[in-house]
Amino acid sequence: MAYKKFLAAADNHGGLVCKASKKKLLEFADVWKPHHRIHLGDNWDLSPLRRGASSEERADGISDDYQCGLEFLDAFRPNFLTLGNHDDRLWQHSTSCSDGMLREHCAKLAQASEDEFKKRKIAWVPYHVSKYLQMPEGGPKLIHGFRATMYPAKATFENWGPSICGHVHKPDVFTARHIDGQASFTVGCLADIDALSYADRTPAKLAWRNGWLYGIINDKSGAWQAWHVIREGNTWISPMGIL
Ligand SMILES: [Fe+2]
Ligand SMILES: [Fe+2]
Repeated sequence: MAYKKFLAAADNHGGLVCKASKKKLLEFADVWKPHHRIHLGDNWDLSPLRRGASSEERADGISDDYQCGLEFLDAFRPNFLTLGNHDDRLWQHSTSCSDGMLREHCAKLAQASEDEFKKRKIAWVPYHVSKYLQMPEGGPKLIHGFRATMYPAKATFENWGPSICGHVHKPDVFTARHIDGQASFTVGCLADIDALSYADRTPAKLAWRNGWLYGIINDKSGAWQAWHVIREGNTWISPMGIL
């Protein structure tokens, strides 16, 4: 019986990545040496594709954002990727966009992304409530996340059971009252929180933190445990101590 190590990161949001958080994550990965690297989505931000995007936002284009997302994949080297709602804008626009030139551009980038995932041997799923990934040993469902509530880990457990997800940018845990144990986690984000200005008038933003999740999973039983790394100011706090 042995335990394998995993590392889960989320929500770098393309060109809006927090460079200090990315650097710290990669340093941690070098030390932790996980068997499984999990990306929980929103690898890109794609603000210009947001419904109701301003003309200023649209003027920015998406090339830089797209490139930053690819650079993140190259640096973090995930084995698993659950696409997020921001990533999904590319796939949505590739089929349903009334601007034909934009639709064709997004279709090419969506196909290019799938080719990049294949080249990097990344198992991935689209953003869809019935799609998720799991590590080969079993354990938690890996999903981007769909529910933004005060208690996102509990809300996620209600729909998906034991799970690890991103999306809410808030490190959270729900320990189930269940005979089999079990828990759900939501993970902090790797984006520059100040730069995600779309949420500046949303109180939920006050709970956002930079961070990630690391854990172990039993290769026979699938039993697992995980721990948050959370940034407070310029300090990175984990159960191992200050990183
Ligand atoms: Fe996000
Ligand atoms: Fe999201």
